[in-house]
Amino acid sequence: MRKNIVAGNWKMNCDLPTSQKLIWELKKALKPDYNCELMIAPSFPCIYPAFNSTLDTPIEVVAQNCSEQEKGAFTGEVSIDMLQSVGVKTVIIGHSERRDIYKEDDALLAAKTVAAINKGMRVIFCCGEHLEIRKAGDHFSTVGNQIEKALFNLTPAQMEQVVIAYEPVWAIGTGETASPAQAQEMHAHIRTMLKDHFGDMTAHHTSILYGGSVKPANAAELFANPDVDGGLVGGASLDAQSFLAIADAF
Ligand code: 13P
Repeated sequence: MRKNIVAGNWKMNCDLPTSQKLIWELKKALKPDYNCELMIAPSFPCIYPAFNSTLDTPIEVVAQNCSEQEKGAFTGEVSIDMLQSVGVKTVIIGHSERRDIYKEDDALLAAKTVAAINKGMRVIFCCGEHLEIRKAGDHFSTVGNQIEKALFNLTPAQMEQVVIAYEPVWAIGTGETASPAQAQEMHAHIRTMLKDHFGDMTAHHTSILYGGSVKPANAAELFANPDVDGGLVGGASLDAQSFLAIADAF
């Protein structure tokens, strides 16, 4: 079912004390109700303490990444079973930092996605174009390709476990946000792709989040668009007040 979601991607920013302090600040400032699901994605060592500290809140603790492998000799990797054993039900896959810095390609992201889904996880699948691609006018085909390669082998039933996050790379951490019209246009394009491939139900039920310099000042105008179902927030999620102000924009 399509849901509004505001997810904070803490990236490699919070050690354990910082992570726990931020959770404490979030809990202190939480209102009884939000018109969206709230998620935070701490680093791996902080996930279990974060899970325990948020049990009495509506905040879901999610992972920033996972391995496509089941188990075994994969030094440095974290399996889906391991994440599930510490309470994680949702994982971010395909963030542009994973694609660009760690060279995760479409085939690997497709493997991670299906592995996570087959274990019953929800996946926040990220896509988005670089600035040169947008300048060349190739953003729709680039994002379309990313989605096709990682998600079009799934069944409509499996797609129920997928949330898509459109994050134009030129807007990540730059302070430059896609305009509400640019976000809506791409989200509508993605939804049309889902409709053409999977059918009306999948298109209607899939949440599509926007990410890239989402702030309290621009969240409401982004979320007001019919195809923008929330945000994947980086920098602004590291401050409890600004993260909750973004969640309040719904
Ligand atoms: P910023 O909100 O810092 O631009 O980061 C967005 C992002 O990459 C979330 O995954």
